[in-house]
Amino acid sequence: MDRLKGKVALVFGAGSSGPGWGNGKAAAVAYAREGARVVAMDIAEAAVCETVQIIESENHVGMAIQADVTSSDSVAAAVERAMRAFGRIDILHNNVGTTLMGGPVDIDEAAWHRSMDINVGSVYRTSKAVLPQMIKQGSGVIINISSLAAIRWAGYPYFAYYAAKAAVNQATVAIALQYARHGIRANAILPGAIDTPLIYREISSQYASVEEMRAARDRAVPTGKMGTAWDIANAAVFLASDEASFINGVCLPVDGGQSCSIVGGGDQK
Ligand SMILES: NC(=O)c1ccc[n+]([C@@H]2O[C@H](COP(=O)([O-])OP(=O)(O)OC[C@H]3O[C@@H](n4cnc5c(N)ncnc54)[C@H](O)[C@@H]3O)[C@@H](O)[C@H]2O)c1
Repeated sequence: MDRLKGKVALVFGAGSSGPGWGNGKAAAVAYAREGARVVAMDIAEAAVCETVQIIESENHVGMAIQADVTSSDSVAAAVERAMRAFGRIDILHNNVGTTLMGGPVDIDEAAWHRSMDINVGSVYRTSKAVLPQMIKQGSGVIINISSLAAIRWAGYPYFAYYAAKAAVNQATVAIALQYARHGIRANAILPGAIDTPLIYREISSQYASVEEMRAARDRAVPTGKMGTAWDIANAAVFLASDEASFINGVCLPVDGGQSCSIVGGGDQK
């Protein structure tokens, strides 16, 4: 498996917020399994070290850096360290994102700003730090993890998250079009209902129990089952690889068909 051989991938949010596989952790490992040298970044040092341990235990190359995507200085320093270690950046993967329950009446202004800052401000900061190097190289790929919530009501009252993820989509398109002549591609992945640690931490409060959450989310997907972090990681590997060299500016739902349905779920019989 060497679809990313020789490439250097920077994954922001490469830890996992709980035991098991989050989207960012799976993407970091999947990139490494395809031959990329992976710089795994996360605010949670222990989590990102665990990701790199997995990468190294499989005899691939990884490096862990603690970094906070809400700080320009932290992002710039992390990118500089990655450059010193590997001398180039081929893939920038933005996975960091958090939900915030509540409508405009419920959330205060500071929380609104925080949500925009972490979900879309992160894309601004990492792109600002990485694009000059990609321009110099004349090549690069950016993958932003958005959400189906960018284009659909997901059933949860998370106003700021909808707004921020919609902004991630169009930020992706703006980068894709502005930098296409530099050999740089940018695409977004819109995960649907995915069974990752994040939902147990951030979404389960919307249901009477964890079991009810799992059942409802399974039902919402036409295939009858939530996706896994590997569904997102596999799409990312493809988009990051040269196989996708003519795919640019796309916001790709990875959702088992959920976004195609107006009733939710598939054939319920
Ligand atoms: N699970 C789903 O159903 C689903 C659906 C749609 C979209 N998504 C998107 O997937 C992405 C996250 O997926 P995941 O499963 O990897 O979540 P996760 O919570 O397991 O991982 C996110 C990682 O980001 C890190 N992080 C948080 N704040 C940070 C900061 N300021 N700087 C650096 N790192 C920070 C966390 O420590 C964590 O390790 C988000 O963008 C989310 O919106 C998930």
